[in-house]
Amino acid sequence: MQVSKKSPALTDSSQKGLLIMKAVNEIKITLESRSVNEGFARSAVAVFASQLDPTVEEITEIKTAVSEAVTNCIVHAYKDDIGLIYINAKIFDDNSIRIRIRDNGCGIQNIEQAMEPAFTTDAASERAGLGFAIMQSFTDKIKVFSTLGKGTSVVLQKKIKSKK
Ligand SMILES: Nc1ncnc2c1ncn2[C@@H]1O[C@H](COP(=O)(O)OP(=O)(O)OP(=O)(O)O)[C@@H](O)[C@H]1O
Ligand SMILES: [Mg+2]
Repeated sequence: MQVSKKSPALTDSSQKGLLIMKAVNEIKITLESRSVNEGFARSAVAVFASQLDPTVEEITEIKTAVSEAVTNCIVHAYKDDIGLIYINAKIFDDNSIRIRIRDNGCGIQNIEQAMEPAFTTDAASERAGLGFAIMQSFTDKIKVFSTLGKGTSVVLQKKIKSKK
């Protein structure tokens, strides 16, 4: 199953263009799903993104979105065990970044429902169910792919606006 949401700020053609563009730089990080690693993931992607010369606000948005996606892998995908989280970030020459956060965890039963603000399967832990809503509002586009029992991939795309 796949669900993607886009913001009205970008046109369809520019989004499609982003997907087929060739990356000018790329990193791959693999980490264990321990909460202590969340800060590392968030900071590593932020440092990589800094070559696009983002504003402090844009860097904060990237950090927060990555943090939500990685936290979901830790607390939902690998709820009762430790698994691997795969992060791939690519930079394109139109000053945009695409970040894929993937796990081999439990998967999501209904992606559309999971992405609804305030939906959570973990109300017992007093979760707000706002992770996906935050990722959506802090990026230009989010795509979620998931297969039950196999894992989930979240792809976040964001264009860094020129300061000039
Ligand atoms: N990587 C994942 N693997 C399995 N299930 C996931 C994953 N990411 C999200 N989910 C499911 O989607 C639901 C919604 O996620 P979302 O991040 O929006 O809210 P939350 O994690 O429940 O709460 P919050 O992020 O506010 O702490 C989760 O409750 C969970 O059921
Ligand atoms: Mg969450």
